[in-house]
Amino acid sequence: MTAAPGPVPVKIAPSILSADFARLGEAVAAVDAAGADYIHIDVMDGHFVPNLTIGPGVVKALRPWSAKPFDVHLMMAPVDPYVQAFAEAGSDIITVHAEAGPHLDRTLQHIRGLGKRAGVALNPATPVSALAHVLDRIDLVLVMTVNPGFGGQSFIPAMTAKIAEAAALIGDRPVELEVDGGITPETAGAVAAAGANVLVAGSAVFGTEYYERNIRALRNSVG
Ligand code: DX5
Ligand code: ZN
Repeated sequence: MTAAPGPVPVKIAPSILSADFARLGEAVAAVDAAGADYIHIDVMDGHFVPNLTIGPGVVKALRPWSAKPFDVHLMMAPVDPYVQAFAEAGSDIITVHAEAGPHLDRTLQHIRGLGKRAGVALNPATPVSALAHVLDRIDLVLVMTVNPGFGGQSFIPAMTAKIAEAAALIGDRPVELEVDGGITPETAGAVAAAGANVLVAGSAVFGTEYYERNIRALRNSVG
């Protein structure tokens, strides 16, 4: 007898970019209680992306508000001078963009050397092949499904095939495949079917105050 296929297990990582910045601590505690698996923190430098958000001091201030992993997405270039500060602030996963410095392999070694999980993010136009020679140095691949910089943008449909391509490259390695941008109950099913197993969601979680219902809606739309 073969077991019936169950729902695809996915992790939900609410992006606090869409939370009330005047009450970030409460927002982190609230999505933790509502069932978030990771807390996704978007760091923007005003150079690599056309927006500014938060620095390591804010990550440190948020750390006591949740014991869940802090999934810190650094949209910065150059990123190397700041990796240690984000590690010391309490990040668990540190994700850098493939273009964030001249030596991606060295940056990833640095992150792991600090005892953190290392991720690589791919912009929509960045090919999956950028990962080919660093796969054994990473714990997470982040496929951007919008151009980074802002919450509330529309999912780019061409990214579904790219997610499948990244999943094939990862194969059976212990590397998570995260997607970020425009993820809603309408788009989550397709990205999970393509192989994504960590869903970042900003607007879809924080858009209304019913965080638990919003997170459940994302999980239920998958599988
Ligand atoms: C975009 C950020 C995302 C963003 C997602 O640059 O990396 O994490 O907050 O927001 P939504 O889910 O609203 O597209
Ligand atoms: Zn992000």
